[in-house]
Amino acid sequence: MCGIVGYIGNTPAGDILLKGLRRLEYRGYDSAGVAVKDSDNIAIEKKKGRIDNLDLESIITGNVGIGHTRWATHGKPSDENSHPFFDCSESLAIVHNGIIDNFVALKDELEKAGHNFSSQTDSEVIAHLVEEYYQGDLMDAVTKTVSKLEGSYAIVVMHRDHDALIFSRNQSPLVIGIGTEENLVASDVPALLDHTNEVKYLQDGDIGRITTEDVKIWNDKGLEVERETKVIKWSVEDAEKGGYEHYMLKEIHEQPKAIHDSFLGRLVEFNEVDFSKYDIDLINIISCGTSYHAGLVGKYIIEEITGIQCMLDLASEYRYSSSTEKYPFTIFISQSGETADTIGAAKEAKRRGCKTLAITNVLDSSLTREVDEVIYTQAGPEIGVAATKTFTTQLIVLYLIAIQLGLRKGKILIEQAETYRNELRRLPRRVEVLLNDVDAIQDISERVLADAGDIFFVGRNINYPVALEGALKLKEIAYIHAAGYPAGELKHGPFALLTNKTPVIAICIKDHTFEKMLGNIGEIAARESPIICVCQEEMELEKLCDEIVVIPEISPLFSPVLINVVLQLFAYYTAYNLGRSIDKPRNLAKSVTVE
Ligand code: M6R
Repeated sequence: MCGIVGYIGNTPAGDILLKGLRRLEYRGYDSAGVAVKDSDNIAIEKKKGRIDNLDLESIITGNVGIGHTRWATHGKPSDENSHPFFDCSESLAIVHNGIIDNFVALKDELEKAGHNFSSQTDSEVIAHLVEEYYQGDLMDAVTKTVSKLEGSYAIVVMHRDHDALIFSRNQSPLVIGIGTEENLVASDVPALLDHTNEVKYLQDGDIGRITTEDVKIWNDKGLEVERETKVIKWSVEDAEKGGYEHYMLKEIHEQPKAIHDSFLGRLVEFNEVDFSKYDIDLINIISCGTSYHAGLVGKYIIEEITGIQCMLDLASEYRYSSSTEKYPFTIFISQSGETADTIGAAKEAKRRGCKTLAITNVLDSSLTREVDEVIYTQAGPEIGVAATKTFTTQLIVLYLIAIQLGLRKGKILIEQAETYRNELRRLPRRVEVLLNDVDAIQDISERVLADAGDIFFVGRNINYPVALEGALKLKEIAYIHAAGYPAGELKHGPFALLTNKTPVIAICIKDHTFEKMLGNIGEIAARESPIICVCQEEMELEKLCDEIVVIPEISPLFSPVLINVVLQLFAYYTAYNLGRSIDKPRNLAKSVTVE
């Protein structure tokens, strides 16, 4: 996820672009840049780091320009990998948000045709493709360029000989701002609101042009179209959160896309890691907090799909544990890639002779430099302190790894792998269905959970770690004491705490533990605790439970993704009812860089 903005009008573009980029910083912030054109030339100023590092003194005055704030996916954050990108002759400049899946092949062809590249990004191919096709008609060159691109993109292109900005989108957002004697284009509405509240949302395949006076759009069939003009009533702050009251809720709702982006281009050919290089008979997963819970779910996924034994360690414990005789293949999971405990554990694993892999959301983060292999989750930036979409995408990567290893080990055949892949393909839609109907969750949060002093979460098998994660989320943002347990463990002690004032959230899935879970629910009911059951179908459960939340149909192995979304929403709405500081809970930081 990156933020892009373009301006054309009667006012110097530099400051307008910077202001727009600041409004889009929530989309990425590892580097930034702007390109501005006067009558003869385009000048670019771009740097690694925050927008404030840009020095606009070096930018010529001009009323046309494009800007970019980056969330790195291909090529580490650096000055060279920052946008905008020039073509070879510095006649045109582009900004891009998205991922060009076929950039390696395109770059190869372009280099053979004599183009010189200055970065490691996928995006730079766009500048050189436009250059390759340009024969005086910029719109024609961009149209030919996008026909060659596979993947996701929102792009804006400027040329020193044209007083216009050309744009196009496919699976990445782009919106036009209609001003008076000025027009803008941006990844999101906040970048436009200082100029106008009249916007046009583009659709996939759209390509178009803004000048100072007008906006023209053509659809993917080449027909000129009129996209409806909408009037935005949000404040800038509301708009940055996409109309959601909190980043956390926005990020919960971004999960269908985050899931899709995390398996895009990886379902069949997962070639970021060549597992054939490693002899993997034992896996250890090491992480902290929510990432530890993702690792615990991963243990069930990996053992089921690959038959490989999988162990777990908390990073803070692993570092100081006695060395083992074995050298398991060790996977580190960290949203930020900056958690001190996890980085310390990665150093220790290396010292012990383990081969290591990191799963992280942040390109080139410190953890990535400590390990042999890296897989990125592609969730986009997560601003809310409580991890939501990054947990979900960590699970997606664990499914992908397990399918790959299962095939290699001969534990599953290609047909079984395809069944698993189909489950992944269906997940975004299933999460969407769940998110479209949250009334029951909202109501239970307000009526049952917000007043509780203690809440228990129970599950069995693969949903036991989901219970742990549900409890952690509630503690973090609602400040209510909560504990997650395997359902069979309550009778070994916690039963002493159950009363009619301690709600129990029970995860009940139609797997081989279903009958046992029914028994556990009966035991809890006997202690008169209010039972909220998260399940697939009501069946006998409505007789035993006080509240029921039904999730869309899904196989047990993939159910943690859906169940966890329900638990995220319980935490969110409970905290909301209590008026908590949801995006910045007390005493917590987004990444914990101290031991
Ligand atoms: O960035 P990491 O995934 O390494 O962070 C680990 C934990 O600090 C993190 O998951 C923490 O538990 C979050 N606040 C969870 O919402």
